[in-house]
Amino acid sequence: MTNSTAAPSHPWHPVAPSAGLRPGANIVAGFAQGQELALWRSADGAAQAWENRCPHRNVRFTLGQVVENRLSCAYHGWQYAAGNGQCVGIPAHPAMPAPRNVCARVFGAVDAAGMLWVNLAHEGDAAPPAPQALADAVPAGWHFCRTLTLRAGAQQVREALPRLGFAAGAAPGAWRGTLGGTPTVALLLDAQPQLAFIHLWTGAAPGSEAMRTLHAAARTLRGDIEQPET
Ligand code: FES
Repeated sequence: MTNSTAAPSHPWHPVAPSAGLRPGANIVAGFAQGQELALWRSADGAAQAWENRCPHRNVRFTLGQVVENRLSCAYHGWQYAAGNGQCVGIPAHPAMPAPRNVCARVFGAVDAAGMLWVNLAHEGDAAPPAPQALADAVPAGWHFCRTLTLRAGAQQVREALPRLGFAAGAAPGAWRGTLGGTPTVALLLDAQPQLAFIHLWTGAAPGSEAMRTLHAAARTLRGDIEQPET
């Protein structure tokens, strides 16, 4: 177990609970270190994390739709393939071969421990090998509680969590502690310079009194991080 409040050197960011991305269905907006992302899952289940901009005219991909294993832009309907982001279809010119030099910007993305993790340093392939540590981020059988939005930089959160009884876990960005009397894992996401998220996981059962108590304690945690007493 590590115990450093320094910014981690690992490139993996926990951007969203995996269950929020349905195969061949929705697109979720996300952030990691200031990079705006379009998160989605192809019909075959593969996780995708793309820059949230169409390479044609810069429209946000999150306005588009998933069509089987492709993402279709909302503006002119150009379609891009899951995995490598290659443009594979232009509806206005169905007989014309898709331009091979037009590609969405694709970042590495993997599912582990119930979360979607993104690697901004890995471009051009949606599924690089992920370290085993990601799978250890959350104990098996635990449940997702909620995501806390924090008006604070990630470093401020890293410095606050030990003061609030959390210790850095073995997995990158994972902190272990107790909230409302319940053991909890907090997965920290550095979203933007003054915006962080922590995804809370717990052994408490969904709908239980312990889970309700944990929700209330999470709100207190947010206040303690955003406005620490001096
Ligand atoms: S802006 Fe996306 S297809 Fe034109």
